[in-house]
Amino acid sequence: MIDLWFLPLPPSPVTGIQSNRVRLRPFEKTDVATLVAQGSDRTVAHWMISFPVPWPRWMARQRVRDSRREMAAGRGFHFAITDADLPDMPMVGACSAILIGDASRPPELAYWVAPGWQRRGYARSALRLLLSHMFDVDPALIAVEAAVIDGNAPSASLLKGLHFVVQGQEYASAPISWDEPPGTQVRLQRYRLWREDWFRAGQAHISEQDRVDTKAVRGL
Ligand SMILES: CC(C)(COP(=O)(O)OP(=O)(O)OC[C@H]1O[C@@H](n2cnc3c(N)ncnc32)[C@H](O)[C@@H]1OP(=O)(O)O)[C@@H](O)C(=O)NCCC(=O)NCCS
Repeated sequence: MIDLWFLPLPPSPVTGIQSNRVRLRPFEKTDVATLVAQGSDRTVAHWMISFPVPWPRWMARQRVRDSRREMAAGRGFHFAITDADLPDMPMVGACSAILIGDASRPPELAYWVAPGWQRRGYARSALRLLLSHMFDVDPALIAVEAAVIDGNAPSASLLKGLHFVVQGQEYASAPISWDEPPGTQVRLQRYRLWREDWFRAGQAHISEQDRVDTKAVRGL
């Protein structure tokens, strides 16, 4: 059987988005070990519904491959968050926006910053870049959502600071890492950011000089 991992990854239509030191870039095969380490961190996995602890290596490989496929097909955005000012541009976390495939449902964000890199503004900068990019490339995009498990105050505060508002509550299966009996539910707060609130709040667009090779997506 052919191991698909050894085939080249689909080319990404966006090779980078950067503002100041924070640069978002597509996942590469070389990110697998970092994905395993960061995804397996209990303090990260605790707030992510589908993260086992530890992550098996095949799962990280699958995430890299699937994320590149989705990017190439225009079904979502998946980026490593890196610091361009540090040697070797370390991956400090990740952020995604998944297009649900139902025009009536806004894309949904998922993100993390590894514990050693938290509270340095990486998540706020990364989400600002991602949101700016999404609203810029799709004038028909009217809203973006994120679902936060009850008790995740850092994430709730991060979203409120980006002008998300609570849209409602819902229930989902407890995160895999909680090891709860099957069927255990957790409550989520669903947050929504409206396009007009984003622009009214004067959130900076990514300036042209910071836009790193996103021409294919923008059709320029
Ligand atoms: C939530 C998370 C992504 C924040 O990342 P971060 O890079 O540390 O966040 P930033 O430094 O950019 O902080 C931006 C804002 O988020 C909020 N925030 C971040 N960490 C916080 C904390 N420990 N307590 C309270 N608020 C916090 C604050 O509003 C902060 O703004 P401020 O610094 O002006 O107070 C990070 O804590 C994380 O990865 N947590 C585990 C995974 C997770 O919860 N993912 C989201 C699932 S919905």
